[in-house]
Amino acid sequence: MHHTILITGGAGFIGSHVVRLFVNTYPHYQIVNLDALTYAGNLENLEDIQDKPNYIFEKGDITDEPFINKLFEKYKFDGVIHLAAESHVDRSIMDPLAFIKTNVMGTATLLNAARQYWKDDMKGKLFYHVSTDEVYGSLGEEGFFTEETCYDPRSPYSASKASSDHFVMAYYHTYHLPAIISNCSNNYGSHHFPEKLIPLAIHNIKNNKPVPVYGKGENIRDWLYVNDHARAIDTIFHKGRVGETYNIGGFNEWKNIDLINLLCIIMDKKLGRAPGTSAQLITFVKDRAGHDLRYAIDATKLNKELGWTPSLQFEEGLEKTVEWYLSNEQWLDHVTSGAYQEYYSDQYQKR
Ligand code: NAD
Ligand code: TYD
Repeated sequence: MHHTILITGGAGFIGSHVVRLFVNTYPHYQIVNLDALTYAGNLENLEDIQDKPNYIFEKGDITDEPFINKLFEKYKFDGVIHLAAESHVDRSIMDPLAFIKTNVMGTATLLNAARQYWKDDMKGKLFYHVSTDEVYGSLGEEGFFTEETCYDPRSPYSASKASSDHFVMAYYHTYHLPAIISNCSNNYGSHHFPEKLIPLAIHNIKNNKPVPVYGKGENIRDWLYVNDHARAIDTIFHKGRVGETYNIGGFNEWKNIDLINLLCIIMDKKLGRAPGTSAQLITFVKDRAGHDLRYAIDATKLNKELGWTPSLQFEEGLEKTVEWYLSNEQWLDHVTSGAYQEYYSDQYQKR
């Protein structure tokens, strides 16, 4: 039973869903959310749970070794769920070193702190590393990524995540650090930063701005509702086998252009626009460098071994996501204007 859990990157998209799920489901756990509040970290994502007695926020950087060591001393964590990362492929193409620093050095710093802090008693401890299917590279028309697929990362982002995965397994084998990795497909849902395809498209359609589709829109991604990813993390954290990796996905592949067309239909309906209005905003732009063609996850192991299945059909999840963005205009305004970055000083530093 884990009682004091460090969740890193909890102010981000997926992290905020994981923090909320754990804080609400396990009132007897102490949940410490550590986040550097980069451009992607937004404490407004956690407004609804920020005053719960089992929740603590710590602002800090996972690459800051003295700070991380002190945090382990202070809270005596028995579990870590590590999500903090630089997460956007296009940014990794512009600034690869930032990805190496946070994703590789940051993960290694956390692993090393856990190793040192837990070295006399590893029993009941767990370091859970949240990773991506992008470490497996790019698929052709056929086949799926399984847990046995060889790593073949092709973007600076996926190379940094692959490297961090290797360090997790190196610590497991070398130091017997109890560790688990999960590799998940593309997530979508509420609180997603509008630089990624789905929230960017929703924001642009709403504001009658062009929707940029890279290349011919033929690349394929496998989409999973973020709350289903959070539920999978909960299941794996509590029931997964140490030293294993688990693939998470919903068998839900979409060509980018088909996805955007579906989104345009939903947006027309929700905004009361004539059918076909939003699709006129679709604009084909220069392709991403090294653009992976296709990702597709085989999540059989997770389903068979731990009984997890996704809860939502894609069309339903996409409608819910659109509804969330349309009824949370202030969240989107703050994120696009930069006002969300004041939230920490307004709410926390005065405490
Ligand atoms: P995100 O960019 O929305 O959030 C990342 C969070 O990490 C932010 O709150 C940010 O402030 C924080 N952070 C960044 N650098 C930090 C540092 N040096 N120290 C402390 N905190 C730092 O990312 P996300 O989409 O929520 O992804 C979370 C994790 O899940 C990442 O590890 C990512 O690789 C993985 N993942 C994401 C997806 C996806 O579709 N988004 C799919 C599979 C796996
Ligand atoms: P993205 O949301 O950046 O996730 P990832 O690159 O990690 O899969 O992109 C999803 C897909 O959408 C990917 O094939 C790139 C494409 N894309 C566009 O066509 N236009 C855009 O503006 C963005 C951000 C992405």
